[in-house]
Amino acid sequence: MGFPEGFVWGAATAAYQIEGAAREDGKGLSVWDVFCQKPGAVWQGNTGDIACDHYHRYKEDVALMKEIGLNGYRFSISWPRILPSGTGNLNEKGLSFYERLVDELLAAGIQPCATLFHWDFPYELFLLGGWLNRDSADWFAGYADVVARRLGDRIKLWITLNEPNVFINLGHLSGRHAPGMKYQTAQVLQCAHNAFRAHGKAVQALRALGARDLQAGIAPNLFVCVPGTEDPADVEVARAMNFAMTEKNMHSNAIWFETPITGRYSEDCFRVFGPDMPHIIEGDMETIGQPLDFVGANQYFGHRVRRGANGHPEILSWGTGPDLTAFKWLLLPEILYWGPKFLYERYKLPVYITENGLSNADWIAFDGMVHDPQRIDFITRHLQELERAIREGTDVRGYFHWSLMDNFEWAEGYKERFGLVHVDFRTQRRILKDSARFYGDVIAGGRRMSGQS
Ligand code: NOJ
Repeated sequence: MGFPEGFVWGAATAAYQIEGAAREDGKGLSVWDVFCQKPGAVWQGNTGDIACDHYHRYKEDVALMKEIGLNGYRFSISWPRILPSGTGNLNEKGLSFYERLVDELLAAGIQPCATLFHWDFPYELFLLGGWLNRDSADWFAGYADVVARRLGDRIKLWITLNEPNVFINLGHLSGRHAPGMKYQTAQVLQCAHNAFRAHGKAVQALRALGARDLQAGIAPNLFVCVPGTEDPADVEVARAMNFAMTEKNMHSNAIWFETPITGRYSEDCFRVFGPDMPHIIEGDMETIGQPLDFVGANQYFGHRVRRGANGHPEILSWGTGPDLTAFKWLLLPEILYWGPKFLYERYKLPVYITENGLSNADWIAFDGMVHDPQRIDFITRHLQELERAIREGTDVRGYFHWSLMDNFEWAEGYKERFGLVHVDFRTQRRILKDSARFYGDVIAGGRRMSGQS
């Protein structure tokens, strides 16, 4: 496979999804701790209270990463574990957990990549208005500053916000995720604006360390429009659709990629949202548009599109009998070719695939192993597409598979298994799935991408 020297081969996780120890060692509550208590909010009443118990088992988990052969690991830091109230008093025990984790990773030769915010917003700050409160940007900056000072000497790869499009929309529009709000469009866009300001201020806090080798970026979920054919007319339609917004679409890349990367709201945003656009105060857009070192893309889905008969863009249907993952997400490996390619063309920033993966019906087989041929096939096909993009000149620096291990899949609880490592949540026993060994072989360069396991 033609992946460049120094390519980061990783897997990703997030604090609330794996750590457990939700009320231990001085951790404060997050909106997810509270949301999970709400009847009906999460599948089967599942919570992240224990999750994968990674807080206590991190050494074993780093050993598994080493066994697989990863050279990178993306994890998130829990804001209320560091600052239990979100601001003010620092919880030493919380910080020390991440120091120990990072030291363990470095000793194993695994590059840490830290996400500052993967959705576990401090509950006390939510009671003050959460992302709707303009001060949220400064609250986040204060937290980022504490973390950067303590871990900035050892962590070089930083992501400010994970999927702002998802936590803003699901948490503040549909109410499907914590904190479960159903705001009006104007309020949702104001939350987004504050989250973008928070991102910019966190980048400033990281830069203030003065470390020349530090890289900062953001990781929205990239919903890619893939050309239905490689006919240049379809490619052109797909390219344009990825960054345009013709109607009210709260998920549009025109909001979530364009704004933090360019430091401007696109004209489409003003045209489509009109008076619902956020209140912009002088200096906000400079804060939001801090220069970034890379763009992260979490990639799971896409549409096939084409230039329709009348010249208008058309979204193609999934057709009859599409290939679907356990979550019923469409298998569309070309997203890993077109996604990074379109991003790189437009923003000229190196790209990291910060997440990509699938949930699958995995269980422990009669032979005691976990066989997941679908995941092997998924990885193969997606990496083939990614390799094609790189071969043609797209600057992709790393791939983080979602996820290292089965974990708490938000409103779906433990129903969806995304891991390379199987977790038996009754015993906390971990088993490397076949895909983990396969991925390890790919990383070691000993596996041709021919689809054979
Ligand atoms: C993206 C999110 O960042 C992650 O938390 C989630 O588990 C995966 N998608 C799978 O849905």
